[in-house]
Order: sequence, then C-alpha cells, then structure tokens
Amino acid sequence: MKRKGSLSVLVLVAFSFLAGCEILQTENSFSKDLALYGVSSGGTAAFIALKTVLQSNCASCHSDFVSYTEEEWVDNGYVIRGDADNSSLYQRLRGSNTGGPENMPPDSTLTTDEISVVNAWITGL
Ligand code: HEC
Repeated sequence: MKRKGSLSVLVLVAFSFLAGCEILQTENSFSKDLALYGVSSGGTAAFIALKTVLQSNCASCHSDFVSYTEEEWVDNGYVIRGDADNSSLYQRLRGSNTGGPENMPPDSTLTTDEISVVNAWITGL
C-alpha cells in the first residue's frame, strides 16, 4: 500500500515534468516573434526593440522592413554601423536631429523614445 502511494507520486511528478517541458517548447521566444512580426526574428534586445518600432510605425507602407536581418539593413545601404546620423534609416525620421518636416513617417512623428530606439540600435551595431 505504502509503495503504491509513492509510485503514483513518482508518476505524477514525471507527468508534471513532461507537461512543463511541453509548455516551454510551445511558448518559446521564436513563436512569440512569429506572432509579433510574422517572421522568425531573434537577435539582440536592441534589434528586437527596433523591429517593434518599425512594425507599429512603418510596416503598413514598408512591409519588407520587419523582415530584414541586421546584415541586410547594412548591405542594402540603409544603415552604416555605429553612425546613425549618416544612416538613411535614421536621417529620414522626422524629429531626429537629421530629419526634416517632409520625412518619415509621412503622417505622424515617432516619440522621442522610439527615435532613441532606432539611434541606439544603429550606434551599437
Ligand atoms: C503612409 C506610408 C508610409 C509610412 C507609414 C512610412 N513610409 Fe517611408 N516612405 C513612404 C513613401 C511613399 C516613400 C517614397 C517617397 C519618399 O522617398 O519620400 C517612403 C520612403 C522612405 C525611405 C527612403 C526610400 C527607400 O525606401 O529607400 C525610407 C528610408 C523610409 N521611407 C523610412 C520609413 C520609416 C523608418 C518609417 C517608419 C518610422 C516609414 N518610412 C513610414 C511611405 C511611408
């Protein structure tokens, strides 16, 4: 009787362990990125923050922006590593120190925090 009791406790523990693993597998950051961006993303915290800003302010017109890797941003000429002021992605932001009134986004302005996110990502690249 006593043995049976501890056996079922053991089985219970084993099951909850397995259930825990399953939750970890379905709730990993990859599936969250998929839900947020529709693409697999990953990358540094600064890059993920950048994509969040682009997703809510730019993707309606520039849908390709949220799928670029960090290398693609550099390779296609939008970003110069470590130099936000000379990166067209940053220069085009209205409200940045290089942006003008006719700049992006056309009908709104990023918050100071959002502009800082773009600047910080480029500066840290
Ligand atoms: C309402 C639509 C719209 C939104 C939102 C928008 N853009 Fe644009 N963007 C355009 C159009 C149209 C052009 C082309 C005309 C021009 O160059 O001004 C353009 C051009 C650009 C260019 C230069 C052209 C290129 O692709 O090489 C950059 C860089 C850019 N946008 C960045 C952004 C960023 C960053 C955001 C978000 C913070 C943004 N845009 C939001 C419509 C938009």
